Amino acid sequence: MRKNIVAANWKMYFSMGEAQSVAERIAEVVDNKTEVIVCPPFVFLDRLSEVFLDTPIKLGAQNMYFEEKGAFTGEISPVMLKSVGSEYVILGHSERRHIFGEDDIDIHKKVVSAIEHGLKPILCVGETLAQRKDDKAKDVVERQIITALDGVDLSGVVVAYEPVWAIGTGVPADLNTVSEMHTFIRGLVEDVPILYGGSVKDKNAYELAQINDVDGFLVGSASLDTDTFKKIIDEFERAKGVN
Ligand code: 13P
Repeated sequence: MRKNIVAANWKMYFSMGEAQSVAERIAEVVDNKTEVIVCPPFVFLDRLSEVFLDTPIKLGAQNMYFEEKGAFTGEISPVMLKSVGSEYVILGHSERRHIFGEDDIDIHKKVVSAIEHGLKPILCVGETLAQRKDDKAKDVVERQIITALDGVDLSGVVVAYEPVWAIGTGVPADLNTVSEMHTFIRGLVEDVPILYGGSVKDKNAYELAQINDVDGFLVGSASLDTDTFKKIIDEFERAKGVN
């Protein structure tokens, strides 16, 4: 089902104390007009599930292993994520693909396992600058989506289009590119919410959210500051006419 979502990917930032106080501030300012998801590092999930207990804010992890349990030193299973209150899990983030070498088959296994265990995957896809220059952006994104979601029940799935060249640069993809890529992705996954990620800020959230097939955002660095994150949610709602 298409719904509006603004998600925070905290990546590898904050101590426990910082995470808790930022989460408490978010809990004070966020209401339930848009689905807001906070994805902290694994070690903060349990504490944050208490902070968000009587709020509309949902909790998500940033990654998981596909096995349920076993001798996999350093890994975290979907069962563990459920047991600490996660409802969502980001899978296939470009930093997982490019720094940690995850491929489409790994990500497919994770998506299947997440759904089997009642977690909603936020599947990240997106091309590199070289792939875009090579006119391969759509081929890459199509392959990432088709492989990861092969045979999968799409009802709880979220897709995030995050062009690698726009992540962490301060400059998002231009509006035409975002519109073209989201429309293309919509043709592959009709009823799935499609988020845009890559340098979303309070200053550009309104114009990005005006694009019809942008159902929300996956926000990195701008989600670390609560006032900015709240402004992004407000700008998103203003553009979508949510009152
Ligand atoms: P930035 O918003 O910092 O560019 O990060 C985007 C991202 O990777 C979200 O998953």
